[in-house]
Amino acid sequence: MRKLALLGAGSLLVALAAIAAGQGTSAAQQGPANTDTLPAWKLSVRDSAALKGPRQPVFFRHDIHVGVNKTPCQYCHYSVAESSEPGIPSMTTCMGCHLIVGGSDSSHQVEIKKVREAYNNSQPIEWVRVHTLARHVHFPHMRHIKVLGANACQTCHGDVGRMPQVYQVNNINNMGFCITCHNQRQVNRDCTVCHF
Ligand code: HEC
Ligand code: HEC
Ligand code: HEC
Ligand code: HEC
Ligand code: HEC
Repeated sequence: MRKLALLGAGSLLVALAAIAAGQGTSAAQQGPANTDTLPAWKLSVRDSAALKGPRQPVFFRHDIHVGVNKTPCQYCHYSVAESSEPGIPSMTTCMGCHLIVGGSDSSHQVEIKKVREAYNNSQPIEWVRVHTLARHVHFPHMRHIKVLGANACQTCHGDVGRMPQVYQVNNINNMGFCITCHNQRQVNRDCTVCHF
């Protein structure tokens, strides 16, 4: 419990504000009544093997966090507009909500318990990467967000906010995917722009 106390009241407020800003009232405050009608709400970790994309150590669902809760991408992928790396949220970010949000049905509770245990044991969850470029290629997220806009994620990643499990929509490991858009937008296509 001592570790939990380290979480400032500030981060909790920010987290709750993030839910409230998206929805007016959050799923956490209302209970599952409004979301129960979503066919996917009841998916459990056992169903994840049948979904597209790699299985993750915790069945973290973008369709709930983004689709239902309306949490903005940048709340978690905090550096996407400033850095090459979009950033993967820390356990503290998760606990900003999950200190109080325990889950409204048993399949959610089981997974949220894993998150709390990982945090209490200082064992960050080791997410399995979905997108990986070869080491000789350089992809600066911030340059793209600056020009294409904060909502451009979908152009390359598909509609992640509706995915119960993230999968790769575009073949990013094919140079043609990059070059087609760079051609259309008259962006520099020198080999050294992308290759080290
Ligand atoms: C802004 C608040 C917020 C943040 C931040 C947040 N969650 Fe959640 N999360 C929720 C809410 C609300 C639910 C829905 C709970 C319910 O009613 O079952 C939920 C549900 C879940 C569930 C159960 C449903 C599912 O996805 O299978 C898991 C697991 C989960 N969160 C993991 C995480 C992890 C891991 C992080 C950090 C990467 C995180 N959450 C960050 C609010 C948040
Ligand atoms: C509540 C926190 C949270 C929010 C909000 C969130 N994500 Fe994520 N995202 C994660 C976590 C945790 C992972 C790693 C686990 C996984 O792949 O599901 C992840 C993984 C991803 C990945 C796969 C990364 C890889 O390994 O290649 C993409 C792409 C992604 N998110 C895009 C988005 C987009 C686009 C949005 C907004 C529409 C968004 N995320 C909103 C927490 C979040
Ligand atoms: C122009 C295409 C493009 C756009 C737009 C884009 N991404 Fe990506 N994203 C990629 C590529 C390519 C990779 C793989 C990068 C690598 O392996 O170095 C990636 C990787 C990621 C990852 C995994 C990084 C990691 O460290 O595990 C996350 C998370 C992610 N993107 C989130 C987002 C979010 C959120 C947005 C919108 C704000 C976004 N991306 C917009 C192409 C894009
Ligand atoms: C949907 C369109 C789109 C896709 C797909 C795309 N890019 Fe870009 N890219 C842009 C735009 C627009 C810019 C220009 C940014 C600017 O003017 O600063 C850019 C800029 C860049 C830059 C910086 C160029 C410079 O002059 O320094 C690099 C590097 C880059 N992209 C790599 C990639 C790679 C690698 C991929 C594929 C994995 C990719 N891009 C896919 C639109 C795209
Ligand atoms: C807009 C970014 C971009 C530009 C410009 C670009 N490439 Fe690429 N290139 C990539 C990406 C992305 C891959 C796929 C990497 C992977 O497998 O993950 C790739 C792959 C390759 C490969 C295959 C290597 C392998 O991994 O099998 C070669 C060879 C290559 N590029 C040569 C070139 C040459 C020569 C030029 C200049 C005429 C060039 N590239 C310009 C992004 C770019």
